[in-house]
Parts: sequence; C-alpha cells; structure tokens
Amino acid sequence: MAKENQKELPNSTRLPEFGSIIDIGGTRCMPTITEELLLHEPAGRRVLSVVTLSDYHGLQLWSKLTHSPTYYQTSDEILLLKKYAAEISNFIVPGSVIVDIGSGGLRKVMPLLDEIEAREMTIFYFALDLCKEWLEESLKALTSRYTHVQCFALWGSFTDGLEWIKQFTGPKVYLSLGSTLCNNIIPVASKGLKLWADSMAPGDVMLLGYDSNLNEEKVRESYITSDGEFDNFIRHGMEHSNSLLKRDWYKPEDWELSREAEFQIEPPALVHRFVFRAQRDIKDEVLGLDFKQDERIICYESFKYPTNILRRQFSLAGLREKASWKSPASDIYEFLLVRD
Ligand SMILES: C[S@@+](CC[C@H](N)C(=O)[O-])C[C@H]1O[C@@H](n2cnc3c(N)ncnc32)[C@H](O)[C@@H]1O
Repeated sequence: MAKENQKELPNSTRLPEFGSIIDIGGTRCMPTITEELLLHEPAGRRVLSVVTLSDYHGLQLWSKLTHSPTYYQTSDEILLLKKYAAEISNFIVPGSVIVDIGSGGLRKVMPLLDEIEAREMTIFYFALDLCKEWLEESLKALTSRYTHVQCFALWGSFTDGLEWIKQFTGPKVYLSLGSTLCNNIIPVASKGLKLWADSMAPGDVMLLGYDSNLNEEKVRESYITSDGEFDNFIRHGMEHSNSLLKRDWYKPEDWELSREAEFQIEPPALVHRFVFRAQRDIKDEVLGLDFKQDERIICYESFKYPTNILRRQFSLAGLREKASWKSPASDIYEFLLVRD
C-alpha cells in the first residue's frame, strides 16, 4: 500500500513501497553470528548467541512469554512509554528516520508512534530485526494503524543496519528498547553502543530503554513460567543452532539446562543467565567443538546494571544524557541520549 503524500525522505532518498521489508543482509547474517560466538569463545566464554532465538518460531515463543504475568520487562516499559510518550516525542523532529534496533514485537513501540501520529508528524519508522516472516507479520499491525508514521522493516543484523543508516543525512532517532543495547559484559556492550553512537550526527537522538531492577526474586521469577515455556524457548536456540551450523552437534540428552542469578561485584550488576552443562565429553571435529563433561554454554544472559554503571557506558561511548524517565511500575528506564 503506497502512501500518497510522501515517497521520498528529506534528503531525496527514494523510499520503497510503504510497508516493505528491505533485505539489508538478512539472508546471510544468522549463521555468521552463531559461529562467531559459539565457536570462538569471545572473552573466554562460550555463549550461544541470542540470534539463534531470532527465527520465526523463536520470536513467536518469545512474544508469548512477554505476555506472562511475571515478565515485567515488557509490561513495565510499555507503561513508561504510555505515560511519557508526549514528553519523549518532543525530542523527535518531523521528517526523522527512526531505526528500531532489534524491534522484536512491535506492541512496545506503539505508544510512541501513536503520539507521533496524533501530532500528524511525518516520520519514517524502520523496524530492524533478523527474521523476515516475523517482520512481515508484525509490520502489518503498524501499516494498518498509521498514515503519518510511514513504516518499513530492515531485514538484517545490527552490522547491516549500521551500514544501511550511513546513507541518511537527515535527522535520525535510534530506538533501543528492552535493554537491547548495553545488555552484555561491559567490553562487548560498550563496543556495541559505541558503534551506534559513532554513526550519530549532531541533532540525532537515541532512546535507550534499560531494565535496572536489582530485586533478585522479581528477576528470577520473570524467567520462569509454570508451563516450562521459557526452557522450551531457550532449548529452541540450541536446536536451531544445528540448522544454522549445518551440523547436528546438539543433542538435547547431552545437555542439562539450568538458570542462575547472581550479584556481580565489578561492575555491580544483577546477572541472570540460562546455562547448558555438558553431561559427557562432546566433540565435533568438523565444527572444531570440544566440550569436556561439565563445561558450560551460557545463553540468554541478562545484565541488570544500576543506572550509574549505565551512565558510565553512555559517557564512554561519547553519549550525553538529555533526559530520562522511569517506569511507574519498576526500575525500568528510558534514556534520551545525544552525541557529545
Ligand atoms: C531483547 S529483544 C527486544 C525486542 C524489543 N525491542 C522489545 O523491547 O521488546 C532483542 C531483539 O533484537 C533482535 N536481535 C538480537 N541480535 C540482533 C542482531 N545482531 N541483529 C539484528 N537483530 C538482533 C532479536 O531478534 C530480538 O527481537
């Protein structure tokens, strides 16, 4: 469905048809990311990349989990965005390109887009994520809802998104909702944030949502569902890695799945993670994998950094905080950041 009023961005970049999914690298990115993390032990840790959870089935499972009553991360951030949508929108100028970095389910961004639509501001919204079918399906809810907010999707990785964004000279808004950026060990998180920060020009803004809840029980409970669906979601990542790596290296009976929550001292954080532990020695010579019994693979790790640690990350990335908002329900924040 093409919109009548606007087919071009302010810098004369021709837009594809309204509602399009733009392939900026989607066909090739997932196996590469999986290999990098699982096979090369960055920072000495074996990590199953979250991208293994980002196929259609994984995102469907995840989306269902975000509705579970204890999963406060989505509901509390939505409350924040509903309450402060007007204040946040004051920082967005007409004609902006909005890139939603790791857009996931789009119901979270809706309060903000609703406010922009109500102001009759033309903006160009691009949802960036890894699964084409998922993007197609979730974008439909937006294209039928908005006229002034022109919606598109970018199918690809963050690296692809960073390359794609270079073509725009007009105002940009980066959205990182749901702790998408900064949720990692500090060296990795800082590197990721800095890449986006470096692509910002004066006048661009980043809205970064982060979960800083340090209540261990609340956090633990949020990753448990009575029907075991959270575990199924995590196990799906391992199963999916078999097809991404084109080797049936993962056999469920070889791996015990558990969860951990701990307070990390330096830098302070409450960390929750799922852990796969090898039940016997496991070798795959083709992939170069060699696990001894009891060795671990970390999956879906959540770092709940207090706000002072986050602010340190912002400043190391060259970002300055212009405003922040807190969820009425818990320690979930939205930070409005600009380049120093
Ligand atoms: C924690 S979820 C957050 C989703 C949404 N922003 C929210 O707040 O509900 C992170 C999202 O980022 C996507 N993602 C993770 N790594 C990615 C990567 N390297 N490139 C593109 N998308 C990625 C995942 O598929 C997932 O949808």
